[in-house]
Amino acid sequence: MEGRKDSKRARALGLVLWVGFVLIFVPGAEGWSKEGHVFTCRIAQSLLKPDAAHVVKHLLPEYANGDLSSLCTWPDQIRHWYKYRWTSSLHFIDTPDNECSFDYARDCHDQHGQENMCVAGAIQNFTSQLLHYKEGTSDRRYNLTEALLFLSHFMGDIHQPMHCAFTSDEGGNTIELRWFRHKSNLHHVWDREIILTAAKDYYEKDMDLLLEDIEGNFTDGVWSDDTSSWRDCKDILSCPIKYATESIKIACKWGYKGVENGATLADDYFNSRMPIVMKRIAQGGVRLAMILNHVFSDDQEGFVSPT
Ligand SMILES: *[C@@H]1O[C@H](CO)[C@@H](O)[C@H](O)[C@H]1NC(C)=O
Ligand SMILES: *[C@@H]1O[C@H](CO)[C@@H](O)[C@H](O)[C@H]1NC(C)=O
Ligand SMILES: *[C@@H]1O[C@H](CO)[C@@H](O)[C@H](O)[C@H]1NC(C)=O
Ligand SMILES: [Zn+2]
Repeated sequence: MEGRKDSKRARALGLVLWVGFVLIFVPGAEGWSKEGHVFTCRIAQSLLKPDAAHVVKHLLPEYANGDLSSLCTWPDQIRHWYKYRWTSSLHFIDTPDNECSFDYARDCHDQHGQENMCVAGAIQNFTSQLLHYKEGTSDRRYNLTEALLFLSHFMGDIHQPMHCAFTSDEGGNTIELRWFRHKSNLHHVWDREIILTAAKDYYEKDMDLLLEDIEGNFTDGVWSDDTSSWRDCKDILSCPIKYATESIKIACKWGYKGVENGATLADDYFNSRMPIVMKRIAQGGVRLAMILNHVFSDDQEGFVSPT
């Protein structure tokens, strides 16, 4: 009996490993590329107030060495694991084709219609779980390390415009095209191609230089007057609705605009969209910091106090 169970288990494990292997090496709709998520999380962590910085370090597993960005792609790595299959619809929102709007009640559900199972619902969910940290309730239902990693990742995804996009083309995934000379698709152009082309053309492929430039642009550059309005948030649980709405508007105005199946996108598209991608990454980072500061350190910046 033991033996049979073991071999069954071994086979099950083999299958899990094989599926894991296939999924890791098959490109798909994974949200901002690794680079986009790392930028968002590095920006956020650099903007944390001391209390929040402390809690984040405390919640991170030891092997992260206090670096939130090292685990910001974790939700993409585990989304196909059996245990975490429930998370796979939490990376995006499918909105009705050509509507260019987000309606939480209409759009925030998974493909079986289960309510709240979209990126906006997930941000609300994990934000409210983390709010328990301050109360000191060691609520066993929640793993706050996971809640932190999910929140940090999904704050990136919700700012990627093609993550709140049309249903029938799967957020641009089925729109096949060429990015300069190689094959790609519209979703992937926004996840990764624009970031990589920017790094290659302007930053000698040095991601640290690119990140420094993004940070320079919101500390004392083109966006420095905008960051306080980015942080504005009257109600922490409804702000993700605002972020998703911005994304679908950008998807319509800049993502889909002028793009058809089989198109070749090159300099014109790159030059006009790169500033938008960089701004969305910056906004995601600034807002993630705002939420973590609010949740972990009584920071009220960006909040309108009740009068
Ligand atoms: C919220 O998180 C819990 C696990 O902590 C999960 O069971 C639930 O499905 C999540 N809901 C959403 C909308 O993210
Ligand atoms: C919380 O989640 C992390 C990541 O999945 C895991 O390593 C850790 O053991 C979990 N903690 C508890 C108390 O279950
Ligand atoms: C920063 O701002 C400058 C000036 O507008 C712009 O040329 C540059 O592309 C921006 N960099 C990033 C990463 O957004
Ligand atoms: Zn994702």
